[in-house]
Amino acid sequence: MPGASTPATAVSGTDLPASSPATRSPAAPRRAATKGAHVAVKSLSHAYRRNDGKVLDGIDFEIGQGEIVALLGRSGCGKSTLLHMLAGLTQPSEGEVVINGNGVREPSHKWVMMFQAPSLFPWLSVAQNAALGLKFTRRGHEIDARIPEILDLVDLGAFADRNAQELSGGQQQRVALARSLAPQPEMLLLDEPFSALDAFTRRNLQRDVRAIARNLGLTLVIVTHDVGEAVRMADRVIVLQANPGRVAEDTAIDLSEEERAGGAEGFQREHSRLMGVYSRIAEAADAQDDIANDFTQL
Ligand SMILES: Nc1ncnc2c1ncn2[C@@H]1O[C@H](COP(=O)(O)OP(=O)(O)OP(=O)(O)O)[C@@H](O)[C@H]1O
Ligand SMILES: [Mg+2]
Repeated sequence: MPGASTPATAVSGTDLPASSPATRSPAAPRRAATKGAHVAVKSLSHAYRRNDGKVLDGIDFEIGQGEIVALLGRSGCGKSTLLHMLAGLTQPSEGEVVINGNGVREPSHKWVMMFQAPSLFPWLSVAQNAALGLKFTRRGHEIDARIPEILDLVDLGAFADRNAQELSGGQQQRVALARSLAPQPEMLLLDEPFSALDAFTRRNLQRDVRAIARNLGLTLVIVTHDVGEAVRMADRVIVLQANPGRVAEDTAIDLSEEERAGGAEGFQREHSRLMGVYSRIAEAADAQDDIANDFTQL
């Protein structure tokens, strides 16, 4: 891994251990310890079965190194399918995903996925769970040096010896995050990872994951249907329309780290703007459905 080194400053949230250090700014200056992945999605289309309609059709975009991008769209528009293709878990029927100049053919420890359920082993400690990614990539010799610093990074240093089942949902997602980050990936792919959490915990994780990705220089792709999450976390939002999934809008979120915390005028402006874009695309899809239904009733 190029330039891998000590992670940047830990960030804090209120679902954290009581012994957590005083609040440190999640908007700490960018200190890239990792070279983020560059992604190119080229003329990508996909049908799950030969005779089925396309789930994704003619998708083209690039993601720069260290960029934070949200894939926003309604349920069933193909967000997870596209994310699985970025991770090399599914191959597209047509077109390709190219990461750092190489076509993606299979999963790699350089790009890791985080799912809604943290999938921890309840009988293992926080540190043991966090170390699994290193074990699976045959880098067990790095565990002693790497795990304490990575648990500090996600603000779980004080919880290293706890059993995973004793943690809150937000803390369990932080362990999953530590497990994903330990092998020093170039890209983190998040599939609605905070949607099962309460609003307060979710916001802390949104803020902290963004700060960690920025500080490490990681490329981050977040799948969401939550406009607020997209505005809080992403530098850029790609809005997908459904049936078949296509890029309907590709828009930058121009906000300072302070404005992303929410409440401020800038956040409200970007939230309303993106909500307008999202609603327009969703309504257009509904109108298409109505036309299709009208035809079936003829
Ligand atoms: N393994 C599969 N085999 C066949 N069809 C699938 C498979 N996985 C997903 N689909 C179909 O592909 C379409 C897109 O699914 P996908 O899970 O990518 O959507 P999504 O945007 O992630 O939705 P959600 O927001 O509900 O998670 C849906 O119509 C779904 O039924
Ligand atoms: Mg999905």
